[in-house]
Amino acid sequence: MALKIIDHGTPEYQQMVKLRDDILRKPLGLSFTPQELEREKNNMLIGAFEDEQMLGCCMLVEENPQTVRLRQMAVLNDLQGKGIGRALMNFAENLARDRGYKILSMHARKNSIGFYEKMGYKVTSDEFIEITIPHYVMEKQL
Ligand SMILES: CC(C)(COP(=O)(O)OP(=O)(O)OC[C@H]1O[C@@H](n2cnc3c(N)ncnc32)[C@H](O)[C@@H]1OP(=O)(O)O)[C@@H](O)C(=O)NCCC(=O)NCCS
Repeated sequence: MALKIIDHGTPEYQQMVKLRDDILRKPLGLSFTPQELEREKNNMLIGAFEDEQMLGCCMLVEENPQTVRLRQMAVLNDLQGKGIGRALMNFAENLARDRGYKILSMHARKNSIGFYEKMGYKVTSDEFIEITIPHYVMEKQL
């Protein structure tokens, strides 16, 4: 498996949008708007690949010079639980450190809290609703 940074608007980015749509949006009856995707131009986009196929992805978005936020973490359904999410998280953390960020934070879905806890993240908010489902802010010092 290869982890790499991908560019907005490329065929790899189209694969990423499809994967995110399949795993994170369609099950909730939602989809991405062109405006949402346009705003991702300045984000750090990350994919895990086997040959040409994307197996999982995530992205980093600057909140301020100290803090970067993880978004859109998703692994293909059939391949969950095999260490791909952990590898994506490690890659994203190293990238964030290299770019000088001190804190990584995220809005974690309630049912993925156990995953992020295993990666060393702590819940720092009360529960709130986003895209119709319960979330918590989680974060970790890099
Ligand atoms: C959450 C997700 C990204 C994790 O990726 P993954 O490849 O399945 O996770 P890994 O195999 O790397 O798991 C790492 C560890 O976390 C655990 N883990 C994974 N998902 C978990 C979950 N939802 N709850 C609790 N623990 C979890 C694994 O058992 C593993 O533990 P171990 O190291 O003791 O064996 C993936 O399951 C996924 O895409 N889920 C659906 C979309 C989603 O909820 N995304 C997060 C949005 S905030």
